[in-house]
Order: sequence, then structure tokens, then C-alpha cells
Amino acid sequence: MDKKQLIEDDLKYIWRPFTQMKSLEDESNKPIIIKKGKGIYLEDIDGNKYIDAVSSWWVNTLGHSNPRINKAIYKQAKKIEHVIFAGFSHKPVIKFSKKLIEMMNNNLKHVFFSDNGSTAVEVALKMAYQYQVLKGHSEKRKFIALKNSYHGDTLGAISVGGIDMYHKVYKPLLFEIRQAESPYCYRCPMGCNKETCNTECLSSVENILKEEADNIAGIIIEPLVQAAGGMIMYPPEYITKLRTLCDKYNILLIDDEVAMGFYRTGKLFAYEHAGIVPDIICAAKGITAGYMPLSVTVTTDEIFNAFYDDDKDGYKTFYHGHSYTAYPLALAVALENLKILEEMNIEEYLKPKIAKFKKELEKFKNHKNVGDVRQTGMICAVELVKDKKTKEPFSYEDGIGKKIYLEGLKLGAILRPMWNCIYFITPYIITEKEIEKLTNIAYEALNRVLPDKEQ
Ligand SMILES: Cc1ncc(COP(=O)(O)O)c(C=O)c1O
Repeated sequence: MDKKQLIEDDLKYIWRPFTQMKSLEDESNKPIIIKKGKGIYLEDIDGNKYIDAVSSWWVNTLGHSNPRINKAIYKQAKKIEHVIFAGFSHKPVIKFSKKLIEMMNNNLKHVFFSDNGSTAVEVALKMAYQYQVLKGHSEKRKFIALKNSYHGDTLGAISVGGIDMYHKVYKPLLFEIRQAESPYCYRCPMGCNKETCNTECLSSVENILKEEADNIAGIIIEPLVQAAGGMIMYPPEYITKLRTLCDKYNILLIDDEVAMGFYRTGKLFAYEHAGIVPDIICAAKGITAGYMPLSVTVTTDEIFNAFYDDDKDGYKTFYHGHSYTAYPLALAVALENLKILEEMNIEEYLKPKIAKFKKELEKFKNHKNVGDVRQTGMICAVELVKDKKTKEPFSYEDGIGKKIYLEGLKLGAILRPMWNCIYFITPYIITEKEIEKLTNIAYEALNRVLPDKEQ
């Protein structure tokens, strides 16, 4: 089948995510058909190669077509590809759960499986609310969530979402939440700056708790980085202090590690930077190195035990599950992934790469349209502004992100800026040389779209 026909069929039969389908009439928006991937590179059917600077929706960690992961899929497929997870179990899920709990080595002890980030969040919200009910607090039915947050696209996850463009239209369908300020350090809602920040924005959480902690089941956060909100980064102290607030006002801390988990921040989970343990965590994406859909919601003895009873009427049972819950193929991959990461001594392995990104990000700082350069572990972001002094953002209509994306493609990288942010979330196996190449491409793409006259 030739390329023209493939694209025609793609547009005819497929409704794409996050896409105004009419925009695909534009030649520059036609889908790029990927033939294969190897390491940090993707190759299209014309033979063009691109650095996958977004880890294919932030999932890939070990690069594309990793031989050990491929082998794990093949080996497991020959044994058992899928089996019902009610009444039955299998070795990969048991071994993975044990290993994960041992690696976390804290109060988080029980793993609940689902198959994507949004459902891991749904599980967390339902679990938290039912826990409160079981503890005799059925009036605790609201959640606190932050402005600019993104927790997925199912209705529960949207309810706790805070990005109007994605979420506004569904408002009539959603449950009630309380929204607190976003810890957006570059555009601090309290008018403070990074240098003197004392996490003042947490007061907006505490104000809500003072008003109605009795009605609040828990708070859900994206730890350290509000990713889809524009790679908004904030300090670990925020989470440390938030833990104290949760204990003081008797609400649960739900930590959505879907994007940050599995070493994206340099540690297994981002909450470790804050020296605290949440009550519930959600993880997905990197859990299988980006090869299979899988997610987990992990919680404490305290929450698990509230459900654990003879329960003749089913009141204390957690009614949630999916056809692909604990999918054996995905679990075989997740287990192999943990083994590989352990053998790589991943925390140490990432340190020079994190340092290299830090060094290479320097070149963006003086550009006239760069307002902020930020980094948390293997996540880097460059926020573009119209005016450096006033921090005036580019408007949606300016389409800066799209223009940089198109230049990036010509130069051999998938940059896919978000809002006004160029970001890098690469596979961990990127070399220091490739980091230099990628950041040079991004800098060149930026300069083609927004020439830095002062240079
Ligand atoms: C923090 C966070 N939570 C949840 C999700 C939803 O995950 P999924 O797309 O797998 O449903 C995402 C997706 O990007 C995310 O970044």
C-alpha cells in the first residue's frame, strides 16, 4: 500500500485523540506514518529518522525495540497471553507486585492493577472515597485538586482536572471538587519568586481545609511537575508540607505518578524527593518501559484493611476491574523492566544525563523569547514568552508550538511543544552526545521561528 493510500485510509477511518479532525485537511497536519523504531529514533515510511524527544507520549524509557523487552513479550506470549484475574493469577503479576513493594520499601503495600493512567486515577478516587465511607465519614465526598492539573480523560479524572481547554465542556457531567492554586513558580499565584519562595501557595489548600475539611476525602496532585499543564515545576517542600496538612486535617494524599513514576525524576517515584509517603499512588506509562498498557494504584495497610472483612453484603468490597486487569503480557514486560532498571543501577545511570541536560539548557536562557528554563530530573522545559519582562505569553492563535514542531521535524526531532513550552522527556538511554544534538535542534527550531535578534 503506498503512502498516499495509507494516509487517506487513516483519515477516513480513524478519529484521533486531542485532534480537531478538520485540521488534518491541512497538508502540514497529515499524520506521519512510523515504520519502526530503534533506541531514541523513530523512522517513518519514507526513511526519515526523528529523535523521539517526547518518549512517545512520555511512556518510553529504555528506547524503542529493546531486545530484552521484545524477548520478554515473546516468551510470555508462548506461555499465556491473558487469563481472567478473578480467581486466577499468574507468576508475572505475583513477582512484579512483590518486587515493586520491596523496591518502595515503605508503607505502600498493596497493588491494584488497571491498564492506563486515567483508570489508575479512577481507582484511587473511588478507593479514597469508599475508605472514608467505611471509616464512617460518608460526608467526606469532595476532592481538592490543583489548577493546571491533568489526571486523565475519564469522567472522574476530568473532575479533578484543571485545564479549561480540555475539561470545561464536560463540567455539567462532573462531580464537585475544590480547586486550589497551582504551584506555578514562574508565574507564582501569590506574586512571590523562586528565590524567596516559602511555598506560600499552599495556603490556598489550607484555606479550603479550614473551611470544610469535614467534607474532603483527599487531595490529588501531580508530584513536582504538572506535566500536561505545561511542565509546571515546583519544589519538593510543597509535597512535604502538604503531607503535614493532610495529616492535620485528616484527608488522604493521592499522588498521581503516572507521568513522573519509574525514574522520570531521577528516583523511582517523585514523592521520594519530598521524604514523605502518600496514602495512595497511581503509576502507569514507564511501568512497562512504554511497551504495554498497564497501570497500578498502590496503597497502605490502613486503607487496605478498612476494606478487609467478612463482608456478607458486599459493602466493603472494592468493586472495580477491567478485562485487561493484570494482563500477563504487560506484567511480564513490567517485571523485565524492573530487572533491567536494577541492573542498570538506574539512579546512578541517570545522573550524568541529568547534568548534561542542565548544561545544554543554558543555551536557551538568553534568548529574547525564553521566559523560564526548568528541569526536574529527566524532564526539561523552556517556556516561551512574547515579552521577557512582562512574561506576556504567546496566544493560542500565534501557534508558536506548532511552528516549532514543524521545524523540529525538518531537523530530525519530535519536539511537540505544549502550550508555550518546548520540552524534552526522552528515553533514558539517550547519550550525552545525543542530548547535545537534540538541544541544538530545538534551539535551531526556536530560532527559525523566533529569531533572536540580539545574538
Ligand atoms: C499525571 C497524569 N495522570 C494521568 C494521565 C492519564 O494517563 P493515560 O493517558 O494513560 O490515561 C496522564 C497522561 O498523560 C498524566 O500525565
